[in-house]
Amino acid sequence: MTAPVVGIVQARMESTRFPGKVMAEIHGLPMIRRIVDRLRSAASIDLVVLAISDRPADDVLADYCAAHAVECFRGSSDDVLDRFYRAAVRYGAGSVARITGDCPLLDPRVVDRVVDTFRRTGAQYVTNTLRGTYPDGLDVEVFSLDALTQAWRDARLPAEREHVTPYIRTSGRFTVRDVESEVDCSARDLRWTVDRPADLEFVRAVYARLAAKPGIFGMADVLALLDREPSLLEMNRGTVRNEGYYMTLAKEPQLPARPIRLDRSYELKARAERLIPSCTQTFSKGPTQYVQGAAPVFLARGEGSHVWDVDGNEYIDYPMALGAIILGHHEPAVTDAVTRQIAGGTSFSLAHPLEIEVAEVLVDLIPCAEMVRFGKNGSDATSGAVRLARAYTDRDVIACCGYHGWQDWYIGTTTRNKGVPPSVRELTMPFEYNDIRSLERIFAKHRGRVAAVIMEPVGVVDPQPGFLQAVADLTRSEGALLIFDEVLSGFRFALGGAQEYYEVAPDIAAFGKAMANGYPISAVVGRRQVMELFDEVFFSFTYGGDTVSLAATVATIEEMRKHNVIGHLWAQGQKLKDGFNVLADEFGLRGRAECVGLAPRSVMTFKDDTAAGGLLLKSLFQQECVRRGVLFSGGMNLCYRHSDADVEHTLRVYRAAFAVLAEAIKAGDVARRLEGEPVKPVFRQP
Ligand SMILES: Cc1ncc(COP(=O)(O)O)c(C=O)c1O
Repeated sequence: MTAPVVGIVQARMESTRFPGKVMAEIHGLPMIRRIVDRLRSAASIDLVVLAISDRPADDVLADYCAAHAVECFRGSSDDVLDRFYRAAVRYGAGSVARITGDCPLLDPRVVDRVVDTFRRTGAQYVTNTLRGTYPDGLDVEVFSLDALTQAWRDARLPAEREHVTPYIRTSGRFTVRDVESEVDCSARDLRWTVDRPADLEFVRAVYARLAAKPGIFGMADVLALLDREPSLLEMNRGTVRNEGYYMTLAKEPQLPARPIRLDRSYELKARAERLIPSCTQTFSKGPTQYVQGAAPVFLARGEGSHVWDVDGNEYIDYPMALGAIILGHHEPAVTDAVTRQIAGGTSFSLAHPLEIEVAEVLVDLIPCAEMVRFGKNGSDATSGAVRLARAYTDRDVIACCGYHGWQDWYIGTTTRNKGVPPSVRELTMPFEYNDIRSLERIFAKHRGRVAAVIMEPVGVVDPQPGFLQAVADLTRSEGALLIFDEVLSGFRFALGGAQEYYEVAPDIAAFGKAMANGYPISAVVGRRQVMELFDEVFFSFTYGGDTVSLAATVATIEEMRKHNVIGHLWAQGQKLKDGFNVLADEFGLRGRAECVGLAPRSVMTFKDDTAAGGLLLKSLFQQECVRRGVLFSGGMNLCYRHSDADVEHTLRVYRAAFAVLAEAIKAGDVARRLEGEPVKPVFRQP
C-alpha cells in the first residue's frame, strides 16, 4: 500500500484583511466546509485535515470540526510550516496536498491532475501555481513528506515559515514541476480566492448561479458562467493575489547591501567619454539612466535572466536589453540556431528562403498580417510603415501616440528635436492616449490631410474600454490608415501582439524587439492591399533579411509556442508588480512609489512634489537595488528565464530598497544618500 496523500487545508479566524472569513456562509454552509467537501471529493486524496492555529480565536473552528466529523489539527499560528509538518507526521502522510482556507471554488478535478502529475513524474513538489495558468483560487501544491521535512528543518526566514512552501519552491534543492491549465487564464486576472469582502460576494454570486447543478461544479462551469455573465468579473477586480505573502516580506530582516567594486566600469567610461558621445549607442543604456558611482556602466555577459558587469558583479536583469530579450540571454535553442546559420553564411546578394519562412510564421500569428517586410531596428519598421501610409493615402500629416524611434518624422515631436527641420516637425501631431477627443482635434484641424494614425496600442496604462476600437473607427472614417507600433508590445502580451490581446486589428503594424530574442530584426506587416505598395515605396537596406536574425526569429518563436513563454511573463511580472506595490504600502510610500503597466512589462514610477524629487527617489531606489544584485533602470521586462528564485530575491531587494527610501524621506536626506548624480529622463519633462 502506498503512503496516503493527505490534503491539509490551512485556516485561521484571525485573517488580517478579512477576519472570520473562513466561517462566512456560502450558499448555506461555512466557507471552510465548502473547501473540505470539495477536497474530499478529489479521488486522489485519502484524508482531509483542517490545520488551524492554537490561538483561542480558532476554538470555533475546532468546535465546528468536532461537531461535523472533520479531522482537525492545531499548531503554531505563525510557523505554519511547523504546523504542516506536525500534521503530516501525525496523520502518517506520504505526501501532502496543501490547500489554503480561502479557496471555496477549489476544483477536485484540478487537485487530481496535480496529484496525478506528482505521482507520475516523481517530482518532489508539483503545483499549478508557478505560471499562473489557472485562475487564482484553484491553487494546489503537492509535495513529499521528505521535502516537507527538509524545509521544516532548514528554512529560516519568516516568510518561508509562514507561507510553508517558498523554501521547497526556490531553494533549488528539490525537483519542482508546474501543471498548466488546458485553458490558459494567465492573462485574464481571474480572482476566485477570498481575501476581501468583495471576493466573498463574487463567490456567493457564483454559488447562487451554479450550486443547483448536480455534483460539484468546477472550473469549466465557472469559466462558462463568466463568459455568459462577464459583469460578475467586475465584482472583485483589483484584488492582489497572495498579498499576505508580500506583507510578511516587510517583516523580514533587511537584506544587506553587498560590497561591489566598479573600477573597471569607470576606467572604461573614462576611455569611452573621449571617443563616444554620451558613452553609448542608445540613450536608454547610457550613464544618465543609472546612478553613476553606484551602478555599473558596462556589462560583459549574460546568461538566462542574469548579467555580469565588466567587474564581475552579477545582477538579475530587468531592462533585458530594453525588452529585446524575451527568453533569456544566450538561450540555448536560439544560440544553436544562430550558430548553425552562421556556419552556412550570414548575408547574401539574393534573398534567402528563411525570409519566406519567417513571413509565413508572422502571417500565421499576427491578426492584421497578410504580407511582411523586414527591417533591423524598430525605427525602420515604424518609419517604413509611415512612408507606406503616406504613399497609400497620398497625404502628409501623421498623428502619433507613444514613442516610435529615432527618425525625423517622429523625433521632431519630442524635446530631442535638434537637427529636425521645422517643415518636417510640422507634419506630425501627437495625441493623448485614452483621449479620443485629442485625436478628433487633429483630424478636424487637418481635414483630408491625415495619412495615418500611429500609436502604441498599449503603453503603461490599459486602454479604456472601447478606446482602441474608437481610434480605429475614427481613423477609417477619415480615410486614414491605422498603424499599431507593436515594437514593444509585440510578442510580450500575446504572440499576435496587443492587437490579438485587445482584439482590434490595425491596417499596418510594426514589430521589433522581442521577436528574435535580442538579434536585430524588425518587421512591417499589414493588409495585402496596402503592403503591395512596397513594390514602389523605397524600403530597402543592405542588412534587410540577414539570415542570422531570421534564424533567431524562427527559433525564438518556436520556443515561445512550445513553452507558454507569455503565460510565464504574465505570472512572474504580476508577482513582482503586486509585491512592489504591497511593499510600497507597507513602508508608507503609497502615492510615492507605484508599479504600473501590464505584468510582462511594467514600469516603476516615483513621485514627489516635484519631478526632480521623483527622480531622486527613483535614483536612491535604483542604487539600493543595484547594491543588492538587481539591475533596473525604470521598468521590468520579464523573460522566460526569470525564475521563482529570481522573483523572491528581487522582492527582498525591493523590500530593503523601500526601507532605505522610507528612512531617507523621513530624515529628509534622499539626495545626500546618493553616491552620484541622480538619473535623468531621456526626454526633458515639458
Ligand atoms: C514602441 C516603440 N517603437 C519604436 C521603437 C524604436 O525601436 P528601435 O530603438 O529599435 O529603433 C521603440 C524602442 O524603444 C519602441 O519602444
